[in-house]
Amino acid sequence: MKKFKIAIVGATGAVGREMLRCVFQFNFPFESIKLLASARSAGKEIEFEGHKFVVEELTENSFEGVEVAFWSAGGSISEKYMKYAVEAGCVNIDNTSHFRMDPNVPLVVPEVNGEALVNHHGIISCPNCTTIMMCSALTRLNDEFDIERIVVSTYQAVSGAGVAGMEELYRQSQEVLDGKEPVAKTLPCAGDKKHFPIAFNCIPQVDKFDLSNGYSKEEMKMVNETKKIFNKDIEVNATCVRVPVLRGHSESIYIETKKTIDMDKVFELLGNSTGIDLCDDLANQVYPMPTSFIGDELTHVGRVRKDLYKDNALSLWITGDQLMKGAAYNSVDIGLKMIELGLLK
Ligand SMILES: NC(=O)c1ccc[n+]([C@@H]2O[C@H](COP(=O)([O-])OP(=O)(O)OC[C@H]3O[C@@H](n4cnc5c(N)ncnc54)[C@H](OP(=O)(O)O)[C@@H]3O)[C@@H](O)[C@H]2O)c1
Repeated sequence: MKKFKIAIVGATGAVGREMLRCVFQFNFPFESIKLLASARSAGKEIEFEGHKFVVEELTENSFEGVEVAFWSAGGSISEKYMKYAVEAGCVNIDNTSHFRMDPNVPLVVPEVNGEALVNHHGIISCPNCTTIMMCSALTRLNDEFDIERIVVSTYQAVSGAGVAGMEELYRQSQEVLDGKEPVAKTLPCAGDKKHFPIAFNCIPQVDKFDLSNGYSKEEMKMVNETKKIFNKDIEVNATCVRVPVLRGHSESIYIETKKTIDMDKVFELLGNSTGIDLCDDLANQVYPMPTSFIGDELTHVGRVRKDLYKDNALSLWITGDQLMKGAAYNSVDIGLKMIELGLLK
């Protein structure tokens, strides 16, 4: 099997670190790995699985000879530098939001719409973490019952805001335990006017708001990306909330379908879906929680129950490590799917 010269852009970040781990754990065939980050990290040594890597500064010339690059350094970095990688002939799997709604860029969750990869022009986008997990959990139900409407509330971990989000929760928790006032520097959104403590709190804002419609950017990502991935006009109503969990997003999801729902079929489908772990046994209090699944690549589904009033509606609860299933693993899985489809040579 061919081995590829790969790069990880944003390798020192919360997602980038997991990308390196996923390359090894899921056997992405590599000949060499280049770790790229900002000038702040240039020269830093990272050891993994017996390999020693030296982080390099990302520049316009970083991609000469690189065949596949996994990006997670932020949308503005992808916007500025990815064109140089495409020019150098590198295939780019982008974890940022920058290219997601570009009609020329496939937006892919491999087990949902892997076939969209054939239309790539050097850039493939990974959806938003909450969208990946939701679409993965719902894809077989959509095939069978034809989903028309989704109402979702998220419970998003601080690591969704990167290394800075995690540091904020640790530091603020200690400040509260020490009897001090917690100092908020980053959340809910690094670029917004105000910051609020996340320790012992929850914040109904993830990313900035669109004041014209009352939804946050994160909520509108779930709306727009879900339509693109399922390639149909599903109605999505999302409320995204940051909670004081270190790692692992959860979502409470309600769906309405065109066809009547058969719950035996629902459990059969969820029990046999790629990427899904059905974790639902109420008698024994079995349901998914974020701390149970740190570091794994699955979407865990539980609390599956039919609506009390409608034959075409149900609710479920999903949890997953968003740094893995919602970001790093989905990126590497896209690369593996491209190899399987003969799209990386
Ligand atoms: N965290 C999640 O759960 C998640 C999920 C899905 C998607 N994403 C997306 O993934 C991206 C990264 O998120 P993250 O959580 O990993 O953030 P993070 O922990 O803050 O890491 C950011 C990374 O980008 C690098 N970087 C920053 N400025 C740079 C520059 N000018 N040139 C080159 N590299 C630069 C940083 O390098 P230094 O260490 O040198 O600063 C670091 O490696 C974002 O677009 C985010 O929206 C994140």
